[in-house]
Amino acid sequence: MARPLTADINLNALRQNYCLARDLAPHSQSVAVLKADAYGHGAVACARALEDLAPAFAVACIEEAETLRMAGIEVPIVLLEGIFEAEELARVDALGLWIAVHSEWQVEALLAFMPHQPIPVWLKVDSGMHRLGFSPARAADVWARLQAVPERVTDLHLMSHFATADAIEPGYFRRQLALLNELSARLDAPTCLANSPATLAWPEAHGAWNRPGVMLYGSDPLEGANDASRSLVPVMTLRSAIIAVREIATGEPVGYGGRFKAPYPARVGVVACGYGDGYDRHAVDGTPLLVDGQRAGLAGKVSMDMLTVDITHLPDAGIGSEVVLWGQAVSGEVLSIDEVARYCDTISYTLLTGVLPRAPRRYHGG
Ligand SMILES: Cc1ncc(COP(=O)(O)O)c(C=O)c1O
Repeated sequence: MARPLTADINLNALRQNYCLARDLAPHSQSVAVLKADAYGHGAVACARALEDLAPAFAVACIEEAETLRMAGIEVPIVLLEGIFEAEELARVDALGLWIAVHSEWQVEALLAFMPHQPIPVWLKVDSGMHRLGFSPARAADVWARLQAVPERVTDLHLMSHFATADAIEPGYFRRQLALLNELSARLDAPTCLANSPATLAWPEAHGAWNRPGVMLYGSDPLEGANDASRSLVPVMTLRSAIIAVREIATGEPVGYGGRFKAPYPARVGVVACGYGDGYDRHAVDGTPLLVDGQRAGLAGKVSMDMLTVDITHLPDAGIGSEVVLWGQAVSGEVLSIDEVARYCDTISYTLLTGVLPRAPRRYHGG
């Protein structure tokens, strides 16, 4: 038998989540964010599954766009961080890409380059994330310079990113939005604004384009879930099996450092999945897993290739039992990646993008 670990990707769920984003924002166009290999799901497969639905895809850099173009994806693709060096503009032009522009040097490079057809540009404004973008005071001037070269630049939009759209406390989010609304009204500029949390929770912040990422993959980014976020469907199921069972006497330790000590005569299943596959080593004892569709808890530190689960309460579980690390069990039971992430003191984004090639992706539906 082959090592049983797989990352099963449900492309129908991806389409369903995309349709939710689209339907939540009927006055906005939804660009599907496929950066970081579609958050670990496989960008080419996800692009193929969404190409008849999404009017555009977003990636972080030109290499990610080239991967999609080489696979035959013809949907418009926007580079969310734009170019990293001026020489990339020739490739942007050849591939018909759209670019974000966030820095003076990018503006200069763009103004010095003559493309075969004008390049669609999203001018990035720093409305409060304080990561990339022009200050609102500077943005008006850059906007005018880019508008003045229609042979080089077309379809100009103002783009910005929210720092706290996921938070229950809306103060800072509202401050960012007010600033953007004022700027876009002053410049008469269409906007590209909402990430997943803003798409799910803030209709007034969708903009002409919204940019859902993690919600497409079925993770709920909101600090306080709402009806829409509760209807997201997991796309990735990280699945393995029990490969050995140990009977552990009360007080005996399990695994490195003996972190878990059996509080009773315990049955412990050994699962073929570890941090060498991308499962987070920060997972604490009790981190949930589904064994044959029933909840059980991690027992002991995660090893490179294996982890251990307390199955004392599951007498029918044994060698060959299905283990779901997150996602949906064969029985239909769901273990939310957001819940697993909380036990690892992290977020779903790091778990999803951290799944390594050693866990083969298997695609279903689409
Ligand atoms: C500029 C930009 N837009 C959109 C997204 C999508 O965000 P989310 O995955 O929270 O929807 C990201 C992700 O980090 C981003 O950097």
